[in-house]
Amino acid sequence: MLQFIVMEDAASIARATADRVEAKLRDQKEAVLGLATGSSPILFYEELVRRHREEGLDFSKVHTLNLDEYVGLCKEHPQSYRFFMNHHLFSKINIPMEQTHIPEGSTLDPQAEAARYEALIRSLPPAAVQILGIGTNGHIGFNEPAPVFSLAAHEVALKSATVEANARFFEDPAQVPHSAITMGVGGILRAEQIILLAMGPAKAWALAQLAGAFVDPKIPATILRVHPHVTIFCDEAAAAKLPKECIGRPL
Ligand code: GLP
Repeated sequence: MLQFIVMEDAASIARATADRVEAKLRDQKEAVLGLATGSSPILFYEELVRRHREEGLDFSKVHTLNLDEYVGLCKEHPQSYRFFMNHHLFSKINIPMEQTHIPEGSTLDPQAEAARYEALIRSLPPAAVQILGIGTNGHIGFNEPAPVFSLAAHEVALKSATVEANARFFEDPAQVPHSAITMGVGGILRAEQIILLAMGPAKAWALAQLAGAFVDPKIPATILRVHPHVTIFCDEAAAAKLPKECIGRPL
């Protein structure tokens, strides 16, 4: 079941997402949270940090599972997803670092690291909430358009559209890695609840594909149609290509 909810701005989306996560953590302190990187969740992480500092939201028993990491970037690299998560969230809340999980980007054996990550995912309870962004080509995590879906965590060659889209974060665009380790769609679908965040006109095409009636590995986010509980929080710009009848009601 998918539900598109259009909100006024990114701050409202961040608060609504934090409300869902907080509701879970209030009655399940040891919940697993599935987390994402990219610009879309940044305000949501700020809101979690604020609730931790001002309202005592407790992360001491939480485990986190991130979606993905670039291959070839060590955790000290400012564009690694480990650095991003430490900076935006983990160093600012009371979660023990050993309870935060992200594939190891500096590995010399990405396939073995993907297998280790898959085993780790399976060793933890399903995520209470999985946060997702969406790529302009419809990717989720780094599950890129492909002839078939990959269920397990895997190493993936990034599409040129993804490398170009992510180059804006790097001082030198030539430094953008061309491969990554990502949770597979099986790991994503394991979550009890999925919240996808999409802001801005660049996401309008991908969201419109998600509202279509088909599941297609060439637009990986369409797999979300088979999940029982997916909410898409988006702004007007990202919703611009959605058929009106798709907004607000469960699909
Ligand atoms: C990267 C990440 C995705 C993310 C996407 C969108 O490719 N691997 O998980 O959803 O970027 O990023 P943004 O939120 O910056 O648009």
